[in-house]
Amino acid sequence: MSKTCKKAYITTPIYYVNDVPHIGHAYTTIIADTLARYSRLIGLDTMFLTGTDEHGQKIEEAAKSRGRSPKEYADEISGKFKGLWDELDISYDKFIRTTDQDHMEGVQKAFEVMYKKEDIYKDQYEGFYCVSCETFFTKIQLYDDESCPDCGKPTSVVKEESYFFKLSKYEKRLLKWYEEDDTCVLPKAKKNEVINFVKQGLHDLSITRTSFDWGVKLPTSMNDPKHVLYVWMDALMNYITALGYGKDEKDMAYWSGTTVHLVGKDILRFHAIYWPAFLMSLELPLPKHIGAHGWWTRNGEKMSKSKGNVVNPKEVADAYGVENFRYFLLREVPFGQDGDFSQKALIDRINSDLGNDLGNLLNRVIGMSSKYNDFEIDSIDVLKYHQKEISEADKILETLEKYIFALQLNRYLEELWKILTIANQAIATYEPWTKIKEGKRDEALALVALVANLLAKVATSLYPIMPKTCQSISSSLGFSIDKESYNEIIKEKSLLKKFTIKKTPPLFPRIEEEVLETSEPKNEDKKNEGIITIDKFFETKIKIVTILEAKEVPKSDRLLKLKVDAGESEPRQVIAGIREFYEAKDLVGTQACLVANLKPAKIMGLLSQGMLLAAKDKDGLCLIRPESKKSSGTAVG
Ligand code: MSP
Repeated sequence: MSKTCKKAYITTPIYYVNDVPHIGHAYTTIIADTLARYSRLIGLDTMFLTGTDEHGQKIEEAAKSRGRSPKEYADEISGKFKGLWDELDISYDKFIRTTDQDHMEGVQKAFEVMYKKEDIYKDQYEGFYCVSCETFFTKIQLYDDESCPDCGKPTSVVKEESYFFKLSKYEKRLLKWYEEDDTCVLPKAKKNEVINFVKQGLHDLSITRTSFDWGVKLPTSMNDPKHVLYVWMDALMNYITALGYGKDEKDMAYWSGTTVHLVGKDILRFHAIYWPAFLMSLELPLPKHIGAHGWWTRNGEKMSKSKGNVVNPKEVADAYGVENFRYFLLREVPFGQDGDFSQKALIDRINSDLGNDLGNLLNRVIGMSSKYNDFEIDSIDVLKYHQKEISEADKILETLEKYIFALQLNRYLEELWKILTIANQAIATYEPWTKIKEGKRDEALALVALVANLLAKVATSLYPIMPKTCQSISSSLGFSIDKESYNEIIKEKSLLKKFTIKKTPPLFPRIEEEVLETSEPKNEDKKNEGIITIDKFFETKIKIVTILEAKEVPKSDRLLKLKVDAGESEPRQVIAGIREFYEAKDLVGTQACLVANLKPAKIMGLLSQGMLLAAKDKDGLCLIRPESKKSSGTAVG
């Protein structure tokens, strides 16, 4: 995001209303809230959008299974999202629902524009559909049992008339965009995944459905009432319909400002490929950044309702404090990487970073100022005695903006904490209590003023993440945090002239034990450790393969390079560490068992597309093979 931009437009995904909000939703929304608050603090005219995605087969089915109408059900869950955002102090400017009339009309308008441009045509769709992901797949993309490659749930065959968007037409322009705009997709690793996907070739996208009803109808000008729009086309358009696209377009000015879409890694493809292609077709500017964050697990496990381990953000916030939770989420994981939620990790962050580092420092300022000067602090001698510490802190502050706009919020916080270290070290080094004893009162007071100033700078910069806490700190120090004070003490690097310190109760009382009664494994569950369900076992896809070719890998005593037939359109290459136990030539024509859905890996620079099952004891190693010959690709299980 460039500093010269006057307007900032920050968005979250709009959340499906098939289920209540969880930690994943809270995470994206808290990141977005932080960016929005930061943008406002530095003086950008900011629009922060969130909302709910209420159409599509998934919602229709969820409502039906509860005996409710889709709209009734959507009203209830949408309300729950709003309620949670209030609890978590989310400062959104607009909450959009895809059932809003204006949104639906805006989407129809967009369809018309794209159709007139001849980017949309009618044909027959034949393929597979995952209702849970609301995604189309071709057979080759599915697992052998035709389950969804993204969520593992069963897919259904779809054969129906459909309108298609000419996605393939935009392939080259998309690649050019990724190449020319370094930070359009963040982080870089995720951007590379998108580029690789597009380079494999884009197929035109089916954008209407006829087999159910719960969606936006085609514009009446199309005179084709049996079609409803594909839910992703409907949903993505929310980013512009919320600004009045196709209606009252005065807020569209935000679209030409700095647009940042925050999304989870699972929905990056829709945002970084389909969405910019739609925008190209609509001849609208492309977003500035699309940031994809990682997923949260619970004590190392994927969260799911059936396991009963889904983290309820409201429960955590109630138990540990909203702002402590906000801090934890942003500090704990680098943006883009997966993170693990545990109460222990949260408690450690609260006691250590917040209690020991931040809270203690405020207590020390309060204590020292009361002892030495009746709560009055003057910055008059700070630069005389502490130029070095102030310069070091200002240098750190100068770099912070870069981390925010690169979405590296954990780095932002890490850097900010270095200022707290400077302050704590200064107290240890200069020992103001000794100075007082030695009669050097002005030096002692300069030290207290240094610490108060550093704390003021930290509180101002931490405000977007912990707004209420930082307001408490600032009111205890006797200043307020706003655009003006940000400009003064961060941008212009000024010191606050005087402080009148007010006592405040400890901000981060120490937490001694886990507060939440949850499904986190307790001692009595330990005996079940290592036991998995049958579903978990079947997440591993094992296949019988026939070895077609085997060669030694040069410069390796251990490795053989195998070509195996796994019953697929092409053989796979597998690098196996079995050379000590098998002659390459003896393997050709034999069969083995392959773990077929392992993430491909490079071994000594060679691609390995799976792993052979083997057993090893003191007598050596043997491959696990079928007792009698089976067709290549037969599933084991
Ligand atoms: N409705 C679509 C988005 C349309 S945007 C035009 C959707 N909704 S969702 O409710 O299923 O998911 C919303 C977000 O929650 C996604 O960004 C997803 O990555 C995020 N998360 C869902 N589970 C998550 C975790 N366990 N951890 C972190 N985020 C995860 O997709």
